[in-house]
Amino acid sequence: MCGIVGYIGKQEAANVLLGGLKRLEYRGYDSAGIAVLNGSLSVVKQKGNVASLGEAIKQSDGMVSDATIGIGHTRWATHGDPSDRNAHPHLNAQGDIALIHNGIIENHAALRVELANHGYSFSSDTDSEVLVHLIDHLWESIPFLDFEGAVRQALTVVEGAYGICVISGREPDKVIVARKGSPLVIGIGENEFFIASDAAPLVEYTRKVVYLSDGEMAVVHRDGYKVKTIDNVVQEKALTELDFELEEIEKGGFEHFMLKEIFEQPDVMEDVMRGRVRIEDARVQLGGIADQLEQLRKAQRIIICACGTSWHAGLIGEYLIEEFANIPVEVDYASEFRYRKPIIGPGDVMLVISQSGETADTLAALRLAKEKGATVIGICNVVGSTIARETHCGMYTHAGPEIGVASTKAFTAQVIVLTMLALALSKERTMSDAEVMQALYCLDTLPERVKNILECRDQIVDIAEHYKDARNFLYLGRGYNFPVALEGALKLKEISYIHAEGYPAAEMKHGPIALIDEEMPVVVIAPKDTTYKKVLSNIEEVRTRKGRVIAIATEGDEEIKALADHVIYVPAGAPFIMPLLTVIPLQMLSYYIATLRGCDVDRPRNLAKSVTVE
Ligand code: AGP
Ligand code: GLU
Repeated sequence: MCGIVGYIGKQEAANVLLGGLKRLEYRGYDSAGIAVLNGSLSVVKQKGNVASLGEAIKQSDGMVSDATIGIGHTRWATHGDPSDRNAHPHLNAQGDIALIHNGIIENHAALRVELANHGYSFSSDTDSEVLVHLIDHLWESIPFLDFEGAVRQALTVVEGAYGICVISGREPDKVIVARKGSPLVIGIGENEFFIASDAAPLVEYTRKVVYLSDGEMAVVHRDGYKVKTIDNVVQEKALTELDFELEEIEKGGFEHFMLKEIFEQPDVMEDVMRGRVRIEDARVQLGGIADQLEQLRKAQRIIICACGTSWHAGLIGEYLIEEFANIPVEVDYASEFRYRKPIIGPGDVMLVISQSGETADTLAALRLAKEKGATVIGICNVVGSTIARETHCGMYTHAGPEIGVASTKAFTAQVIVLTMLALALSKERTMSDAEVMQALYCLDTLPERVKNILECRDQIVDIAEHYKDARNFLYLGRGYNFPVALEGALKLKEISYIHAEGYPAAEMKHGPIALIDEEMPVVVIAPKDTTYKKVLSNIEEVRTRKGRVIAIATEGDEEIKALADHVIYVPAGAPFIMPLLTVIPLQMLSYYIATLRGCDVDRPRNLAKSVTVE
C-alpha cells in the first residue's frame, strides 16, 4: 500500500507532485509515476524510486512544465510485477483519462473479461487498470453521464479496497478522488488543493485538511471542493487542523518505522486475511495455490526453508500444518539445507518463506529443491521478488512495505498465511467444517485482540526501564510459543545489542539454567494451555535461582502474579492463535529497551533489510 498525491491550483503541478511522492516514499515503492493535464495529458511513469522519476521528468520532452493539475503515485505492487508498464497512472485508450489507485480491486478478473468483450484492451497486468477503462466505458455508453457520474457508477461496480485520483482532458479543471479502505486526505490552500494518502505531503503547504471517510468521493476544483458519498449524498465535512511537524509525520507520526510497523499490525492482519478467510463457507481461499492444492494435500512431507525471523515463522508453521493437516513437516535453515545432501524429490513439497523475497540462502535452497523435482511454494511479502517468481506457486503476505530492519508485521503476516495454509490443507483431510469455522472465527477476531495488547505500551515502557541495562536475557516458551521465544530473543539482540537466547522452556534444565542468577531477566511465555502447569514449574526453577521473571500470560490469570516480577497479559485464545498475540509484547519490549539504550532501531548496526549475499 503506497502513496497517492494530487494537485490542482496555481503552482507547477509536476514539482508539487514530485515533492509529495518523496514525502510518501517511506511507505515503500517499487515504481512511481505522474500525469499532468494542460489541455492534454502527459504521463511519465517507470519502475524505480522517486528520485529516478524526477530525472525522467527532467528529460521528458512531453511533460508540460506549466501544467497546474496533476496526479502522482508510488506503487508497491500487488498485481503484476514492478515494471514500467505496470506503474501508475493508467490511461484509457484515447489517453484522455488518467487514474492512480492504491489498494486491490478484487473483482478485477471478471471486469477485465467484461471490458474485453466490449473491445477494451489492456496495457498492464494490474488490477487497477480495469477501473480507468470501466470509467471510460460507462462515460461513453450511458447518455448524459458526466465525468463525476462515470466515476461514481464505476465505483458501484468494483469490489475491494481503493484510494483513487482521476483527471480527464474531457472535463479539465477538476480532480476526482474517492476512498474505500485506502486513506485519502485533502489539503486546503488558497485557490489550490492538495490530495494525498496521508498528511506528510500536505503539511509544507497547508495545515487545514479534510479527511475523507470510507465510501466518500470528492470533486476538487481550483476554487473549492464538494464531498459526497458514493451514493451521491452531499456530506458536510469538518476541517481538521494539522498539529504536528513535518519530521514527525514522515514516519506516520511514529518515532521509528519499527514502532509504526508494530502498531500497524491489526490493519495488516486484516489485509492478509481479506478475501481469503471465508467463515460462512468454512473455507480458506488461497488464489495463489488453488490449482496445486490437491497435489499439496497429497504431499508425503513438507520441508520449510527460510532464514532469521522467517525461519521462526516456519517453526510455527510446522506446529500448524502437523496439527491441522496431519502432514509431516521439517523446518530447515536455508543455509544448512543447501550445503547438506538433502533427501528430497518428487512427492515432497518445499515451502520457502521470505519477507524480501531476495534472501540468497533461501533462493539457493529453493533452486536445489526444484532441481531435485520437489514442488516449491513460496510465502513472500515483496511482490515480483526473485523468490516469488521462481517458486511454482505461492501466497503473498500483503503486509505492505516493511522498512524497519527488524521484522515485525511481516512475521505476523507470515504466521497468518501459514495458519490459512494449514487450514486449507486440512479440509476434508483431518477437520470437520465446524472445526474449520471455529478456527477461522478465531483468526477473524485476531486484529481486535492485538489492538488490546498494543494498549499495554506504558506498562511495557516501565518494564523496559527496569531491564535496559541487563547484559543477557533468556526467553522461554513451549509448543506454539517456543518459536516466539526465539523470535523475542532475536528481536532484542538485533536492535538493542543485548545478548539474548530463546529456548524451549523444558530445555532450560539441560544447560541454560547454569546462567541464572539475580542479574538474569527471563521472559517466560506462559499462556493457559496444556503445558501451562509445566511452564509454571519452570518459572519456579528460575525464581529459586533468583532470576527475574517477566511473564506473558493469559488475561485473568491471577496465579502467575505471585510467581513473576512482571506480568504482561494477552487475551485468551486457542493455542494455535497464541504466537500472534504473545509476540506483540515481545516486539514492544525490544523496541523500548533499544530506544532507551539510544540504539538506532530502524538501522541496527551490521544488518541489512534484504540479505542478498550468502
Ligand atoms: C529479522 O528481524 C531479520 N532482520 C532477519 O532475520 C530476516 O528475517 C532474515 O534476513 C530473512 O529475511 P527474509 O524474510 O527477507 O528472507
Ligand atoms: N493493486 C495496485 C497495483 O498492483 C495498486 C498497488 C498500490 O497500492 O500501490 O498496481
